[in-house]
Parts: sequence; C-alpha cells; structure tokens
Amino acid sequence: MILVTGGAGFIGGNFVLDWVAGSDEPVLNLDKLTYAGNLETLASLQQCAGHVFVQGDIGDGALVAQLLADHKPRAVINFAAESHVDRSIHGPADFIQTNIVGTFNLLERVRVYWSELSEPEQTQFRFLHVSTDEVYGSLQPDEAPFAERDPYEPNSPYAASKAASDHLVRAWHHTYGLPVLTTNCSNNYGPFHFPEKLIPLVILNALAGKPLPVYGDGQQVRDWLYVKDHCAALRQVLEAGRVGETYNIGGWNERTNLHVVQAICTQLDELRPRPDGHHYAEQIQFVADRPGHDRRYAIDARKVANELGWRPAQTFESGLRETITWYLANPEWISGVTSGSYRDWVGLHYGQ
Ligand code: NAD
Ligand code: TYD
Repeated sequence: MILVTGGAGFIGGNFVLDWVAGSDEPVLNLDKLTYAGNLETLASLQQCAGHVFVQGDIGDGALVAQLLADHKPRAVINFAAESHVDRSIHGPADFIQTNIVGTFNLLERVRVYWSELSEPEQTQFRFLHVSTDEVYGSLQPDEAPFAERDPYEPNSPYAASKAASDHLVRAWHHTYGLPVLTTNCSNNYGPFHFPEKLIPLVILNALAGKPLPVYGDGQQVRDWLYVKDHCAALRQVLEAGRVGETYNIGGWNERTNLHVVQAICTQLDELRPRPDGHHYAEQIQFVADRPGHDRRYAIDARKVANELGWRPAQTFESGLRETITWYLANPEWISGVTSGSYRDWVGLHYGQ
C-alpha cells in the first residue's frame, strides 16, 4: 500500500480519488483535518476497502511510526502542508510547524522504518515530497521559466517554509540514502479547491453577487495546471522518477491574474448568466496588493516530459470549464466549506 499525507486537502484529495479509481493498491490517508482538510471530498470512498483514513499530524512521531509498522507502505507521498500564502502572511507559525518541523518528524520516522526494511524493499521504497514553484522566487517578464537547477529564492513565509522542507528532503537522501523524489509544481486548480484561493474564490463570489478582488494591478503572472494533470504527473514520478531527483511540473499556461478572473467571468456568463443580464466582469474590484507579492512564476516542465513522458492533458480553457462546471454541480460541498472558520478568514482578510 501507499501512505498519503494531507489526502483530505485539495490536491491530496484529488490524488486519493484518482488513485482508488485507477489502482487496486490500497491507500492509507493521514490528515490532521485543519480548516483546509475536508472529509466531504472523500465521501465517495466511505464504503471503499482500499482507502483507510486516519486523522493525525505528520509531526506526531509515535502515530507515524505506528502507522508505518502496521501498514508497511512501499511509498509515502507527502502533501500535508499549510498552503495559503495570504494566511502565511497573517500568521506564519503554523507554516513553520507543519511544513518544516512536521516534514522533519515525518522524514525521521520514515527513515527509521525504511532502514529496517529488507534490501529489496529498501530499493523499492520511495518518499515523494510534493512542493511548489514558489520556492524559486519571482521572475522578471523576460526571464526563462524555473528549471530544476535554479537557485531557491523564496519570498513569502509559505514559500520559505516549503523551501526549507525541500532542503530537508534532499539532505535525508544525501546523508542517509532515503530514496526521495521531489516535485515542484505551479498553481493548481480544479474540483475540491478550498475557496480561499483565487479561482474558486472568484467563481463563488461571482455567483453570490459579491466583489471579485484582484490584488494590485492584476498583472502578476502564474502558470496554471489542472489538478488531475498534476496527479497524473505525480503517479508518473512515483513509478519512474530517478531517486534523488527533482521534477518541475507545470501547465505551460502563463496567465495574468486579471486574465484568469476575466476568463472565469466569460465562462460564467455563458454557463450561468446573471439574472439581471449584466456581465460578471462588472463585479471585478481592484484591492490592496499582497505584501511582497511575487510578480511572475513560470515552469520549465521539459525534464518531466523528456524523462517520464508526462504532459498536461488539459488546456487552461478546458480545465477551467471542467472546474466551473464542477462548482456549479456541487453546492453541498461548497456550503460545507464556506461556513464558520471560512467566514472568519474572509472577514479578517478582505474586511467584509
Ligand atoms: P491544502 O491546504 O488544500 O491541503 C493540505 C492538507 O494537509 C489538508 O487536508 C490539511 O488538513 C492537511 N494538513 C495540514 N497540516 C497537517 C499536518 N500537520 N499533518 C497532517 N495533515 C496536515 O493544500 P493543497 O493545495 O492540496 O496542497 C498540497 C501540497 O501541494 C502542499 O504541500 C502544497 O505546498 C503543494 N502545492 C500546492 C499547489 C497549489 O496550487 N495548491 C501547487 C504546488 C504545490
Ligand atoms: P492564490 O490562489 O492565493 O495562489 P498563490 O499565491 O499560491 O499563487 O493566488 C493566485 C494569484 O491570485 C496570486 O498572484 C494572488 C492573486 N489573488 C488575487 O488577486 N485576489 C485574491 O483574492 C486572491 C486570493 C489571490
């Protein structure tokens, strides 16, 4: 079996759902269920024998050691993290705790477990660490996209904490021989995305008749990847990636934030026209910029394409349509995540 951490979150949840749909190999899913973790995402797996959920912290060494001993996974895929840049600006402590200390504790327990495996099992074992392109910092408009050997220049508390975790993973390979793989991916979007991030926030605010907040001038550029394409890349890296290597994963879809928001508005105009006949784009509002806002991210995904044959299946436009269609069809999931602490966050951050 495989052990997935953070499998009740956005990407981990999609990964678990896709894994169970495409494989007979069971998944053990360890997730703390922070505000970002949601068992509703996994509701379709309630009767599924191939999925075992455990609520717990990757930093809980005793629990992790017990799970490893009991279930004997052949791989660990580490999604668990605090993942939202804006929250890391308001309160970085949880990011240091989970992303750095938690990853350290997980690595240590996995190292002990791995060192006691038989030699063939040790050779087969993998620790796949799921990370972000934000560790590379910000690009000028004319600079080449991030490549695997670029220096780390993280700018936000989130990015710095993920960079630190990547360094720990690298060191556990070089020092102890743990068979690790690291992926650095661009911005994901798709089903089950918590609506504090740009794309789901804009879809839901648009439908609710609320302002669509665009930070600063809206000319910041991100590379966007449909989440199921990311999950396919991770499966490919897990099975065929070279131990100790890093793979950059991206969608070849650089877009300004303003373009992204306008594209959502245009698709919504068609799929769910406003009752008053006006365009959703009229709800766009430019708001105060994020402190230290990185101007541009872009990923050079040639290594994963050339070595492992992975390429994204979705274009930005087709993936966005899938995403909007999913949000329109799943109001129960949305109402489950937009109550309580979510409202507190919106009030704190946007002052509403
Ligand atoms: P998310 O915030 O939606 O989910 C994170 C999950 O981890 C949640 O289910 C949460 O409950 C769980 N978690 C948090 N702290 C934990 C802990 N201490 N122990 C166990 N579980 C814990 O995040 P996401 O968008 O799904 O991102 C998953 C991973 O992918 C993260 O490591 C993130 O850095 C990385 N990543 C995300 C993106 C993106 O665009 N979302 C892009 C590249 C990389
Ligand atoms: P986000 O989804 O938070 O991802 P990240 O910061 O990890 O890239 O934000 C994506 C981009 O959208 C980022 O440049 C910030 C911008 N943004 C807004 O303009 N308005 C918003 O309300 C949010 C949440 C983000």
